[in-house]
Amino acid sequence: MTYTEKDHHFKRYTVTSALPYANGPVHIGHLAGVYVPADIYVRYLRAQGEDVMFIGGSDEHGVPITIKARKEGVTPQDIVDRYHKIIKDSFAELGISFDIYSRTSSAEHHATAAAYFKKLYDEGKFIEKVSQQYYDEEAQQFLADRYITGTCPRCGNEHAYGDQCEACGTSLNATDLINPKSALSGSKPVLKETKHWFLPLDQDEPWLRQWILEQHKEDWKSNVYGQCKSWIDAGLQPRAVTRDLDWGVKVPLDEANGKVLYVWFDAPIGYISFTKQLKGNDWEKWWKDNDTKLVHFIGKDNIVFHCIIFPSMLHADGSYILPDNVPANEFLNLEGDKISTSRNWAVWLHEYLKDFPGKQDVLRYTLCSNAPETKDNDFTWKDFQLKNNSELVAILGNFVNRTIVLTHKFFEGRVPAQGTLSELDNSVIAELKTFPERIGRSIETYRFREALAEMMNLARLGNKYLTETEPWKLFKTDPERTATVLNLALQICANLAVVCAPFIPFTADKMHRMLNLQSLGWRDAGRADILACDTQLEQPELLFEKIEDAAIEAQVNRLLETKRQNELNAWQPAAVKPTVAFDDFGKVDIRVGTVLECTKVPKADKLLQFRIDDGMGSRTIVSGIAKYYPEPEKLVGMQVCFIANFEPRKLKGVVSEGMILSAEDKDGRLVLITPSQLVTPGVNVG
Ligand code: 2FM
Ligand code: ZN
Repeated sequence: MTYTEKDHHFKRYTVTSALPYANGPVHIGHLAGVYVPADIYVRYLRAQGEDVMFIGGSDEHGVPITIKARKEGVTPQDIVDRYHKIIKDSFAELGISFDIYSRTSSAEHHATAAAYFKKLYDEGKFIEKVSQQYYDEEAQQFLADRYITGTCPRCGNEHAYGDQCEACGTSLNATDLINPKSALSGSKPVLKETKHWFLPLDQDEPWLRQWILEQHKEDWKSNVYGQCKSWIDAGLQPRAVTRDLDWGVKVPLDEANGKVLYVWFDAPIGYISFTKQLKGNDWEKWWKDNDTKLVHFIGKDNIVFHCIIFPSMLHADGSYILPDNVPANEFLNLEGDKISTSRNWAVWLHEYLKDFPGKQDVLRYTLCSNAPETKDNDFTWKDFQLKNNSELVAILGNFVNRTIVLTHKFFEGRVPAQGTLSELDNSVIAELKTFPERIGRSIETYRFREALAEMMNLARLGNKYLTETEPWKLFKTDPERTATVLNLALQICANLAVVCAPFIPFTADKMHRMLNLQSLGWRDAGRADILACDTQLEQPELLFEKIEDAAIEAQVNRLLETKRQNELNAWQPAAVKPTVAFDDFGKVDIRVGTVLECTKVPKADKLLQFRIDDGMGSRTIVSGIAKYYPEPEKLVGMQVCFIANFEPRKLKGVVSEGMILSAEDKDGRLVLITPSQLVTPGVNVG
């Protein structure tokens, strides 16, 4: 039994993690928000001996996938096949321990989702409504969700989608948009009648209010509770669960004419259909037994779907349990900027695994210690390095390594016996005892950062104990006392191997191997005799290694390059300046001249000194373009345009008699303006 269960002992746990859209790989934002905490939770429960089903899979329907396919000229199936594999493989490599990771394009899922709809339909749980929806006459298609863009009526963002404005987070109906535009053809859509099926959420309000706002006031996170409250208080509206699209689960009704289920109707049913895929006929106990605790791990953008819409679907069926908790996290930013797939502003898991082989736990540790549990948080590469070097290496790695090395040095690698215990030993043993429960309670209440910090405190306790007892000095004078100290230090190592496992499982495995520890449960931890006396230890291997500056700089440089590319992509011509009179333009005397000499101005990196044949003799002009013309002598003979009637001015000791014209390209590069044919030096430009 877990520590926080008071009134109700659950017999089993169904733990789901949001199904990522298979239109791109997963990044650190997904991991910190959903998968790392979910995995810690289930690993902990398993260590407690609980019966757990951990469900994951790819969400393979929805408009973003079809839009991407269209852009690339491939089928939606091609897109989801590509990303499902990348996502699934990278999760496995990071040690996310799903019992099943499936996909919503699978035949079993289609069958389950269609049957779910059909049952509710047969029982009259939907409202049928004919309504006006936007239609693209050119593409001959209805424009659902992201197929339509326009201006958000709330915040004025001109790139809001038909279902949501990403700038202000408002959930929208396509008909709310100002200046709607088809994302397919860019044309102005027309309204056309179409029939859809709606979930009457308005009728669910009383029980939702009771269930969430009263029953879960205390145990749901305040960000989750707050979002639910504002949705319910604003008044729930019927929600369409079908779409006029051709990619998705077909609505199982003849009259539906190939319409599909709304992606947010079929995706959460994936949790159920994947359970069926794994456990055959036994699936119902995971979904229909009141002794099962259902927990959904999600990001904050999924709250309404998991706390209101999916529960309303489960309730409409009537045979399912409702989630006991929905521990949604806020968002993780990257180096101070919102993570964005389209702007490539992300650390992609599959790339991290390539760049930092064998360092899965470093990422798991960093993301957990920085998880956006109560507010948005920031990931920086500097912090990643710091967490590795000054926590994992310096605290945990150092303690375990010192203890095992000393045991080899003084006791040939055999766990020495505990002798008489000192006062210090007894207080360390008493403290050790408190850790598993404290860590466990934090995990059970979804406070993973706190739990992780406690786990590290146990390693700190170990280091402090070694510092106070100095077994490396002690052996000469008191081998017996040294045996007791190392025995106790090794007991702390063994305890760490158990309690670090949910967070950093690869490291826990290494520790188990080094300590020759048989696999222990959570309840074995807390004791100072879990490592048997005389056990032969293996040679120590380093648990963590220092991450050097160069590795971090490479990552930071990659992000800087992304930023530069994004700025280039976002470039637009400057606004046209206010109108001027022709006479005003005529006041500026622009001419063509031929370059006679061109040299760098000494001690001025940016400046070139030109001698120009201006038709009247020659003149000197200094220009700040040295960076873009590294071989100035090659400019001799070229014709340039210059302003002939500027007042002379001194630049770095050289008097410049005019200004040479150049264009500034979008990357900031300056390019000289030259006539398209040779002309007589001194002629006017105008
Ligand atoms: O927000 C998302 O990425 C969705 N694909 C999550 C779906 S969760 C579930 F309901 F399937
Ligand atoms: Zn908006």
